[in-house]
Amino acid sequence: MPNITIRPAAPEDTGLILTFIRALAEYEHMEDQVCATEELLADWIFAKNKAKVNLAFCDGVPAGFTLYCFNFSTFLGRAGIWLEDLFVLPEYRGQGIGLSLMRTLAREAVEGGFGRFEWSCLDWNTSSIEFYKRLGAVAMDEWTTYRLTGEALVKLAEGK
Ligand code: COA
Repeated sequence: MPNITIRPAAPEDTGLILTFIRALAEYEHMEDQVCATEELLADWIFAKNKAKVNLAFCDGVPAGFTLYCFNFSTFLGRAGIWLEDLFVLPEYRGQGIGLSLMRTLAREAVEGGFGRFEWSCLDWNTSSIEFYKRLGAVAMDEWTTYRLTGEALVKLAEGK
């Protein structure tokens, strides 16, 4: 049985975090959309504390990660955990690393008294959907995500 360990990332892990982000983007066929740099990640994650990262190691070798932040449910009157990225390197999958990463966040949610733990998943990613269902997660099919970015965001901000 491999030895799986999870620990919070530190600033010196920024290069590794970017490598995982790029690998996940490649898996999702979105690598051309990754504008993140080590400088940006170091600033937003470790200087501004706007996101947190857990790293998974298999026998001491980096194998996967989660990147998450906090949202808020007015109905529950509590903060929640928003999982932005979950990724395990292909060669380390099927050994319980993804489950350990998710369990670590579930524990943080329960111990911190958070209202919920949620994330989004691309519709075609059926293998991950199966994984999430096995954890007991429920799809929020009636909700659609909206996003403002780029010119539309600036236009709204500037009142044009
Ligand atoms: N289909 C069905 N069950 C699956 C599964 C799949 N594709 N992948 C894992 N499982 C099951 C395992 O069999 C295991 O069940 P068991 O304990 O009863 O044997 C359980 O889920 C835990 O699996 P685990 O080994 O912890 O998962 P993993 O380390 O392979 O990580 C992912 C799972 C999804 C994180 C990994 O496959 C991955 O990185 N995928 C590509 C990136 C991705 O899709 N990320 C999520 C974006 S929303």
